[in-house]
Amino acid sequence: MTLVRPADPATIAAAAQALRSGRLVAFPTETVYGLGGDARSPVAVAAIYATKKRPSRNPLIVHVPDLSAAAILARITPLAERLAAAFWPGPLTLVLPLADDTPLAPQVTAGGATVALRAPAHPVARALLAACACPLAAPSANRSGSVSPTRAAHVAVDLALDPRMSPEGAPLAMILDGGPCQVGVESTVLDLSGPHPRLLRPGGVTVEALAAVLGETPGRAALFPARRPTTATARPDGTAPLPSPGLLRSHYAPDRPVRLNAESTAPDEALLGFAGTPGATLDLSPAGDLEEAARNLFAMLRALDRPPYTAIAVAPLPTTGLGATLNDRLARAAAPREAGDPPDMHD
Ligand code: TXA
Ligand code: MG
Repeated sequence: MTLVRPADPATIAAAAQALRSGRLVAFPTETVYGLGGDARSPVAVAAIYATKKRPSRNPLIVHVPDLSAAAILARITPLAERLAAAFWPGPLTLVLPLADDTPLAPQVTAGGATVALRAPAHPVARALLAACACPLAAPSANRSGSVSPTRAAHVAVDLALDPRMSPEGAPLAMILDGGPCQVGVESTVLDLSGPHPRLLRPGGVTVEALAAVLGETPGRAALFPARRPTTATARPDGTAPLPSPGLLRSHYAPDRPVRLNAESTAPDEALLGFAGTPGATLDLSPAGDLEEAARNLFAMLRALDRPPYTAIAVAPLPTTGLGATLNDRLARAAAPREAGDPPDMHD
């Protein structure tokens, strides 16, 4: 059996069966591809962490079809209801307090008291959720610390798997191919578990769109500086899940160094342009459309992350709307690697 398969109804049914038996399935969402497993199954959740080489302190996003499915897992606040009505299904993840009798495996939340939930809009993700009838834990389907996959082929490359083979008994049963992701950057993560909404990760839903529904601009959590246990979510062994590992500085990084706001380039540098940058090796959106740029960002970073280039220079991008998300991802890609956060803290 091939590992990468077109996401037709029969294949989605087979994928749902694999998920119900505790195996993993990579699937497309409108943001990026996810590495999914039954969020109630400790075995499936452990396999996700192992396959991604992700540290177990970094909690996973759980995908649900809608708000009523979310309400089985977490305590839905009135604000969560309002935001879900405005943005679900879509690229908004809400961090909420766990329901008292939540069926989620504790490893999903890294032992913490909150869970990150989102209802994806992609038809394949929705069909898969309907067919497996279980909440799906699904982080981005990349190796921890690397650029998120926006094509099925990226998943196989990242996880170092042969796209033609699906080894019997391996945790990952298949990669559902739903074509290129339409949003192209990860979901916006908004923490609703405290007294005020806090933006943990800018993403596919813009801050401006959130502000229009919230009536105020959400507070932005500062970049996470170092390992710092939070008493609210500390575990008995004294370790703690990260407050939001998405805030880590070096993250979403290609292998080659990335340089921002480039006005000119060295001979061995690739230039990633925007809106017709002269001399660009690739242009995120020749027409200057930020949605097109978001769709292209990760695939173009991957495309430039190879010889003959030794570095990637990026032209200045707008800072509002989706531009804020693009600049966030690029700033993380450009962040110092060794001197910064330890590599085991990336997702
Ligand atoms: O668009 C997306 O969100 C994609 C697709 C597949 O849905 N998923 C994704 O998941 O990006 P992941 O695991 O790569 O990123 C989840 C982010 C991480 O920064 C994680 O630390 C944060 O959400 N997160 C998860 N659970 C959390 C929680 N309970 N509290 C705070 N942050 C949390
Ligand atoms: Mg990720």
